[in-house]
Amino acid sequence: MEPVRKLSRSIAGKVALITGAASGMGRATAHIFAGEGAKVAVLDLKQDRVDAVVAEIKAEGGEAEGWALDVADGDGIIRVVKEIEARFGGLDILVNNAGAAWGADFAEYPESGWDKTMDLNVKSLFFLTQKVHGLMKAAASGDRPGKVINIASIDGIKINPWETYAYQASKAAVIHLTRRMAARLIKDNICVAGIAPGAFASEMNKAAKNAGDAVAKMIPAKRIGRDSDMAGAAVFLASRAGDYVVGDTLAVDGGVAYSQISEAWG
Ligand SMILES: NC(=O)c1ccc[n+]([C@@H]2O[C@H](COP(=O)([O-])OP(=O)(O)OC[C@H]3O[C@@H](n4cnc5c(N)ncnc54)[C@H](O)[C@@H]3O)[C@@H](O)[C@H]2O)c1
Repeated sequence: MEPVRKLSRSIAGKVALITGAASGMGRATAHIFAGEGAKVAVLDLKQDRVDAVVAEIKAEGGEAEGWALDVADGDGIIRVVKEIEARFGGLDILVNNAGAAWGADFAEYPESGWDKTMDLNVKSLFFLTQKVHGLMKAAASGDRPGKVINIASIDGIKINPWETYAYQASKAAVIHLTRRMAARLIKDNICVAGIAPGAFASEMNKAAKNAGDAVAKMIPAKRIGRDSDMAGAAVFLASRAGDYVVGDTLAVDGGVAYSQISEAWG
């Protein structure tokens, strides 16, 4: 029997890069990771919003550094990887959180919205991870694996009522891509896994932000997600406790994807 009596869920001292970390769940995860003792690299589009999150984390006694960058900017990512290495000495955790949605009636759904959504949610996730891989591989070992956490959505598991065609397809792609990337990166001692959030208040999910009580009524757990629900799952996957989770995507949704009985059954 393995001589373990107390399991480490600690991420203290680990270096984590979080994309889309200036808003919503990425920002919440950055705060909670820093609160748990991780050194956090905050990446998002706008300098002032990145600076604000870094300043908040430092004011809370955490360690953080920020980069304003589009995740589609390959050369920029290569530069940021070098700067993360210089600043923190390596990289242990990548949270691929940046994402966007586009909704439009089927007949009018624009190709531009399709491309924007697919490029950000799927293509940039893949190529950013490709560029970060070398630095993560250097820090990883069998006993201390690196962690890539892809933020999908329950919309990639179960269709929702909104006409967000590209978004729902993109998140299904993220769930399957997570499996395929996991099969390759585990060879380098990097565990790739995913989180499929349900409804969390954010700029993207304005219904949960502005009408949380109404949204909560449709959720088996009868509440929308909290920052700690999302970050709790991310801390689990990022820590020793999650070292044997490879290729799976965990639904963190109060039961919407797997525990909701259709109204059609009465
Ligand atoms: N909020 C929800 O209910 C919900 C549910 C399921 C999944 N998600 C997923 O969670 C993730 C975070 O969503 P959120 O709700 O916190 O949204 P949000 O809009 O509050 O945050 C997304 C962040 O990503 C950043 N971003 C967008 N494009 C970028 C780019 N090209 N480069 C760098 N950063 C970029 C934005 O500036 C923003 O700060 C997304 O992947 C989203 O699909 C959210």
